[in-house]
Amino acid sequence: MYICLCKGVTDTQIRDAVTDGACSMRDLRERLDVASQCGKCGQDCKTIINEYRQSASPGFINAAQFSLA
Ligand code: FES
Repeated sequence: MYICLCKGVTDTQIRDAVTDGACSMRDLRERLDVASQCGKCGQDCKTIINEYRQSASPGFINAAQFSLA
C-alpha cells in the first residue's frame, strides 16, 4: 500500500528501511525521501516506525541504541 503518494513509497519499503536500521523520521527521509513534499505521510511513517519498535527483536533495539551513540 502506498504511504507516500508524492514519492511513490510503500509501507513495505518503509518497513524494509526500518529493518535495515532506519529508526527516525530523519532516517526515513534520508533513505526514501518521504514527507519531503506535502508532508501528509509523516504521521503514517511515524506509526510504522512505532509499530515496528514495539514488535522489534532485541537486535533492532540494540541497533537503535547504537545509532544514538
Ligand atoms: S504524501 Fe509523502 S510527501 Fe506527500
